[in-house]
Amino acid sequence: MTRKRKTVAELRSQRWFSAPGATGVHKHRRMKQGGFAPADYEDKPVIGILSTWSDFNTCHAHFPQRIEDVKRGVWEAGGFPVVIPMQSVSESFVRPTSMMYRNFLAMEAEEAIRSQPVDGVVLMGGCDKTTPGLVMGAASAGVPAIYVPAGPLLNGYWRGERMGAGSSTWKTEADYRAGRLTREEWVASGDTTARSAGTCNTMGTASTMTSLTDVLGLTLPGASSIPAVDAAHQRMAALSGRRIVEMVWEDLKPTDIVTPASLRNAVITDMALSGSTNSLIHLVAMARRLHLDLSLADFGKASEGVPVVANLMPSGKYLMEDFYFAGGLTALLNVIREHLDLSCVTANGKTLGENIEGAEVFDHDVIRPLDNPVYGSGGLIVLTGNLAPRGAVLKRSAATPELLSHTGPAIVFENRKDMMARIDDPKLGATAMPEWGMLPIPKPLLEKGVRDMVRISDARMSGTSYGTCVLHVCPESRVGGPLALVKTGDLIRLDAEKRSIDILVDEAELERRRAAWKPPAPHYTRGYGELYSQHVLQADEGCDFDFLARAGVTEEPEVH
Ligand code: FES
Repeated sequence: MTRKRKTVAELRSQRWFSAPGATGVHKHRRMKQGGFAPADYEDKPVIGILSTWSDFNTCHAHFPQRIEDVKRGVWEAGGFPVVIPMQSVSESFVRPTSMMYRNFLAMEAEEAIRSQPVDGVVLMGGCDKTTPGLVMGAASAGVPAIYVPAGPLLNGYWRGERMGAGSSTWKTEADYRAGRLTREEWVASGDTTARSAGTCNTMGTASTMTSLTDVLGLTLPGASSIPAVDAAHQRMAALSGRRIVEMVWEDLKPTDIVTPASLRNAVITDMALSGSTNSLIHLVAMARRLHLDLSLADFGKASEGVPVVANLMPSGKYLMEDFYFAGGLTALLNVIREHLDLSCVTANGKTLGENIEGAEVFDHDVIRPLDNPVYGSGGLIVLTGNLAPRGAVLKRSAATPELLSHTGPAIVFENRKDMMARIDDPKLGATAMPEWGMLPIPKPLLEKGVRDMVRISDARMSGTSYGTCVLHVCPESRVGGPLALVKTGDLIRLDAEKRSIDILVDEAELERRRAAWKPPAPHYTRGYGELYSQHVLQADEGCDFDFLARAGVTEEPEVH
């Protein structure tokens, strides 16, 4: 594809460096202060490297080296690289939840780009929220952008078995709580699930979001499957640095790459991967930043269109390193090519079809053929009903089949503190099979060998997790959604076949409870927490901030 090339005068950075009068002189003076001669950067695309590195984000521990690789590529292609640190939004350490800071990162990325002399950006992320956060910010900033995914960490093994970050961690923790592992065994097994730098090596939220960003065309093809510490990852980073310089000259922006067709491809791929339930929230938010429509119904439709062919934890048995050696994402896309729009343009300037042409599968148990899938239909389904009028999500491929159609009494926990105080109460656990909202299995049941139960929540779960968990119930209870009206003992009916989730309480009684419902006291009365509480949208709208998701143009800054 040939695009009209930008001229030097059209580079955005020229507004700073070629500004008339004292302004331009001042900018050059400050660049010299940084040790750069004008020849280093003058008349070149300035490439911002947005890095989510920090010592707390151990999934990105290799980023200092990768930044050098990206810089090398930018220099080689005739650009000028500038590192712009972002908050790292470590999934493991940021509390109360990293989700709260995805929008913060998106705002930070957007404004860091807009307010500085940047012509294009390399986005460096991977740990769960960093991918959508960076993509949302770059999309709103409207400059050419390429994503460098952190890459998955290496396979872990314990006692001869594959150990996946998250998926195996939850299993061994349940075994420890049930008294089947000693504390030493539990700790030793867990250590194998974090063997190297890189993102969780299961098809959790990190791998799902980097893979979908790859399908959307925002990375070099197949970049998301390369293990973090593989030398191929260094080469990919350098090539991304080279490519972004050309993308600036071609003025190839996220709005040119992400289209309704590429979004459909991403949703279809999500189903074939049995991706994380979080992807529904993030993809919707990313689409809305580009003013494209994507709804939960689109995921529902796609779910019937394609089977799960990626045999990866938590729905399957392998890990991302196995996936890479089996051919990686490009090979998987070639398997499901009949379901994709192959004409979509991608970051390397080629179409998706050109990028996956001839991509071979080398292990047909890791990437299954369409006629021998891991699961006969898409991994994720969308439920609606009087408990979730605006939808809820269930990863059916990681659920217990017998629980997919189930009616049982609810046990309600008001919040996490309440749950932790009562979860292992023998009296509570001794009831038949209670329905729980996004909770650990109570110890008395674990001891009896129970490993799954229906859990319903307006919260999310880790993409590496498994079980019959109905999530993102919308509207949420905090704003008075029907979940807020449920009382312990109410019957709840889950019918995955009919895509429904209902509370079996008559409407008059629900109306009485609704009238008596009082909004809980705000969590925050100042600061970012208050901003978040006041402006966050519901799950079906991507949980973006209302003022960031809305259409409109933000003016370029005046340079002086
Ligand atoms: Fe960073 Fe899982 S904790 S990707």
